[in-house]
Amino acid sequence: MSDDSDVLVRERIEAELRARGIRLGLPLVLVDETGSTNDLASEEAMKDIAHGALILADRQTRGRGRLGRKWFSPGGQNLYMSLVLRPQVPVERLAAITLVIGLGVAEGIAGFVPGVEVGLKWPNDVLIARRKAVGILVEASMSGALVRHVIAGIGVDVLQRSFDPEIASIATSIALHAAQPPDRTTVLVEVLGHLQRRLEQFEREGIDAMLEDLRARDATRGHRVRCVAGEGTGAGIAQDGALRVQLAQGELVTVRAGDVHLL
Ligand code: BTN
Repeated sequence: MSDDSDVLVRERIEAELRARGIRLGLPLVLVDETGSTNDLASEEAMKDIAHGALILADRQTRGRGRLGRKWFSPGGQNLYMSLVLRPQVPVERLAAITLVIGLGVAEGIAGFVPGVEVGLKWPNDVLIARRKAVGILVEASMSGALVRHVIAGIGVDVLQRSFDPEIASIATSIALHAAQPPDRTTVLVEVLGHLQRRLEQFEREGIDAMLEDLRARDATRGHRVRCVAGEGTGAGIAQDGALRVQLAQGELVTVRAGDVHLL
């Protein structure tokens, strides 16, 4: 199966964001190629680029994921982007921002795959029909107890139809589930619109107001999982954004770190 591709054009993206009143994503830095947009975004953040700025690349040569993993980043097909955020939230509430971003991205892509389940795998994956289509890598820069900035790196597989053997059994893309594959700009603008709404809500109200929506998208609930504490069944997202797991031995644990694997 051959892959589709399209071209990202800065003026078009900016015009569409402005036309929809979306401020997140502006200013926009668009490059053909970079090592990792998270690194470029950190450099820009150090130079005081504004809150909400977006670093977007057509392809990455050293795209990275959590826990030192590689993020496959071929050109012309997917979105590789990093937002520079300076969220007005106390540091003890910041950990939940990954889930908030996941929720916004999930809502942003759901409209392109009507009738197909778009779920969140705690803490940072968005799944389409239970396969990974989005990865999120949040990196915070702290100065003592103060958050200087947060880099929210988001990779969305949009048009790619074939994957490296290493990830072929777990990866998917929007194009593989959409009747008509959308272009990357349309997906980007939709995702940024939803992200803006959720991030503003997070600053105002914390995750309380979105717990119901987070729980409705929880792909681990009722499913067998493996987490740092062992194997068990997803038992829902807690009030503070942690994941509860009912271990096979009977104990109910709260997971706040590490990876959770769907079995
Ligand atoms: C993961 O699933 O482990 C997170 C993957 C995050 C990938 C995105 S692509 C844009 C940004 N730049 C990177 O190098 N990584 C993130």
